Amino acid sequence: MTAPDSLTDPESLRTRALDALTTARERTALLTSCVEDPELTAQHSPLMSPLVWDLAHIGNQEELWLLREVAGREAMRPEIDGLYDAFEHPRAERPSLPLLPPAEARQYAAEVRGRALDILESAAFQGTRLTEAGFAFGMIAQHEQQHDETMLITHQLRKGPAALTAPDPAPAPLFTGPAEVLVPEGPFVMGTSTEPWALDNERPAHRRTVPAFFIDTTPVTNAAYQAFIEDGGYGDRRWWTPEGWDHIRAHDIEAPLFWRREGGQWLRRRFGVTEVVPPDEPVLHVCWYEADAYARWAGRRLPSEAEWEKAARHDPAADRSTRYPWGDADPTPEHANLGQRHLRPAPAGSYPAGESPLGVRQLIGDVWEWTSSDLLPYPGFVAFPYREYSQVFFGPEYKVLRGGSFAVDPVACRGTFRNWDYPIRRQIFSGFRTARDAAPGSS
Ligand code: AVJ
Ligand code: FE
Repeated sequence: MTAPDSLTDPESLRTRALDALTTARERTALLTSCVEDPELTAQHSPLMSPLVWDLAHIGNQEELWLLREVAGREAMRPEIDGLYDAFEHPRAERPSLPLLPPAEARQYAAEVRGRALDILESAAFQGTRLTEAGFAFGMIAQHEQQHDETMLITHQLRKGPAALTAPDPAPAPLFTGPAEVLVPEGPFVMGTSTEPWALDNERPAHRRTVPAFFIDTTPVTNAAYQAFIEDGGYGDRRWWTPEGWDHIRAHDIEAPLFWRREGGQWLRRRFGVTEVVPPDEPVLHVCWYEADAYARWAGRRLPSEAEWEKAARHDPAADRSTRYPWGDADPTPEHANLGQRHLRPAPAGSYPAGESPLGVRQLIGDVWEWTSSDLLPYPGFVAFPYREYSQVFFGPEYKVLRGGSFAVDPVACRGTFRNWDYPIRRQIFSGFRTARDAAPGSS
């Protein structure tokens, strides 16, 4: 891939970094100002931090990397570093820490940002891997946006009336295209060595050979998932891995998180509002075990991470991998449902402008898609700039999710981006699509 000029020219990078940081802060401000201060310090779920922790942690990471590492400044408040170190305190413990109160947390994050923007103004964008192409600024904007998605999950878990609203995605005609697409066998380039703000686990670019397979054209819908429920899927051990079966039995799981059956129909709670589950929307809030069981019930399987990326990035005509399914251009609202513009996925089959060369839709945006793969390093992986971003998570405990949800900003979402979580997690904005082997020789 040759990077577009906007990814290499210093003045374009400066603008790109400023825009990314500003967009992230506007989102952070909204997520932390739409509820009263006591709600910022409360813990809405043991799975999540108090919102005020995310806020000061965002500022603290920015201080660590942009002020101290890039610019060599002294620590502003060394005594708070430990409080906001995600590895020192698990989420459940954070509400009982002596956290900065909301006004102080806001003030701290704003002060850090003021200094970071001064540094950005005269940054050289070369010299070290951290400064090259504005990587540290891009990493920090992505970090803030990742926590903005985390904070949106906290809002979804929060009890009480909605604090946030957004317009719905445009209604889409019922998708009538083919249900699945054949991805022919052959090598493709996975990962990247040229995307300037790609994180360590997306690197380096390397060739992978993937046998022919079929993949769903769209994510699995609520209607399809309901058919699995109505067919007794949650009560039939055949569809579940032993761990998955034990987990759903032990926790009485019988439907996606936030769903409830009433008067013969499925309702769900979404950002404080109860509504009928929309049949044509991608299913949301399922764990890996549920996605895996559905796929087995359907006579299919989850795609591997390499299959997902090949479906998303491989351009057979040009025999190369693109940045996104639609090509190398940055996402626009015509391509994908990203950036919390909407607080729900768009109907399956939406965004024809975002489809891949082979015709696969909604790979980027809408719902994070579970894959069958464990989170593992690519051949040649080097932890950068800190082991705690990816390296400490490698292994069989975590499953990879791809593609990004409606809640993730474009800066933290691309064809190579890798997310991961425990297979039991379903408060995240997770869905999936399924795949199957193609007969040998199909191409
Ligand atoms: C990559 C989304 C799994 O939220 O735990 C945020 C991102 N890393 N701060 C997470 C992250 C450090 C991470 N995920
Ligand atoms: Fe973080």
